[in-house]
Amino acid sequence: MSYYIGIDLGTSAVKAVLTDDGGKIIDSCSIEYPLSSPHPQWSEQNPADWWNAVKECIKNLISGIDKSEVKAIGVAGQMHGLVMTDESGNVLRPAILWNDTRTGKQNDYLNNTVGTDKLRELTGNISFAGFTAPKVLWVKENEPEVFEKCCRICLPKDYINYKLTGEFATDVSDASGTLYFDVAARRWSAEMLAILGIDESYLPKVYESADVIGKTTVCGLSADVVAGAGDNAGAAIGTGTYEAGKCNISLGTSGTVFIPTDSFVLPSNSALHSFCHADGKYHLMGCILSAASCNKWLNETIFAGNYDVSPSPVSAEDTLWFMPYLSGERCPHNDGDVMGAFIGLTHTTSRADMQKAVFEGVSFAIRDCLELCPEMPLKATVCGGGTKSEKWMQILADSLGIELGVISNEGPSYGAALLASGVRPEVRIEKTVKPDLKLKEIYDIKYSKFKKLYPMLKDFYKE
Ligand code: XUL
Repeated sequence: MSYYIGIDLGTSAVKAVLTDDGGKIIDSCSIEYPLSSPHPQWSEQNPADWWNAVKECIKNLISGIDKSEVKAIGVAGQMHGLVMTDESGNVLRPAILWNDTRTGKQNDYLNNTVGTDKLRELTGNISFAGFTAPKVLWVKENEPEVFEKCCRICLPKDYINYKLTGEFATDVSDASGTLYFDVAARRWSAEMLAILGIDESYLPKVYESADVIGKTTVCGLSADVVAGAGDNAGAAIGTGTYEAGKCNISLGTSGTVFIPTDSFVLPSNSALHSFCHADGKYHLMGCILSAASCNKWLNETIFAGNYDVSPSPVSAEDTLWFMPYLSGERCPHNDGDVMGAFIGLTHTTSRADMQKAVFEGVSFAIRDCLELCPEMPLKATVCGGGTKSEKWMQILADSLGIELGVISNEGPSYGAALLASGVRPEVRIEKTVKPDLKLKEIYDIKYSKFKKLYPMLKDFYKE
């Protein structure tokens, strides 16, 4: 018997699965860690918390099996985060995460002074506040003493791979989100590194996702560790999204639409990311910064822990809108200053109306991303915590007008285990949700109104 461990270094928790050599999930484990926001727009985590949680998960997963049968581990992780260490691998400051939008100034410098044309030529992408490059510039400008001591810059899951193996390595899918990676050529961009003042010796060696980067002996194991993937490419492997024409929607803390492509594509709309896939090819991606996290906020913070409010039925007369920008927004607005809002409250607004507005607002933001894609897919798989709500899945299908295949395996951790084992079993669709085309007509009208809200409000937040 051979076992494989897949780890997803998420934003709220680490989630890990143990699979067998046929790709069947035998066991799973999840451990949460805190997220800190010491200033508005900041989002940070302590890499030591990640590492402790990863070790704990590994210990739990191997407790009932023969350790020597664990053959390989793969890690997928939250993308774009900045981890800086000294020569000996000691972390110099908390990691700055993908949903941190403090870098407005550095982001503007990259897009307006270096210029989006140059950035797209060198990397395939423009700059977004959450990408790694503007964060490096932020540390250089605001914490020069940290930058001075820094000898290594890596992404969150690469820090875990370093702790597991002692090897300083990354994979092409995660490196794509740094903005100093030449996505088309699948290597660091020397020209971007010169613009940013980063010495290439600071950066990990680049591998394809399934390549073995070293061995781990942590927790008494003797297992290979593969390079792994960014969490979205990992989820795409876990949901079987690796052929052109497919689409996966992930509703986690963030929301993403993931479209595989056979070759590198420079999308006509630069709000879409063009990244390397973990399968050796490429993909396009739209990312919203708050998805299932909007529902968590509504149910936990506003409804005081009540997850049972059923959304009111949709109607053309609805007046309530939710703008899901609780952490600013990435695609399509690239605006770290915009904030979330309920618009159109009245004395008769109920919890059920607010619940519906949140499900709809996030679904409309996902539609914003899908509408940028070269073609609207006819169907998509959906994974992530948001899939737990059947009502939300129906609203998503109705408002996008496409059939959804709900997948309840842990997308990124399962994908990471598949990268480690090399097997690609058929992925089981838990439930198919067909759109109600009558409701789609109402949603088309509601969506066209939703699209008017951001342009009306954006200057208000800038002021
Ligand atoms: C993708 C992105 C998020 C994080 C979430 O570009 O920023 O999906 O990877 O973990």
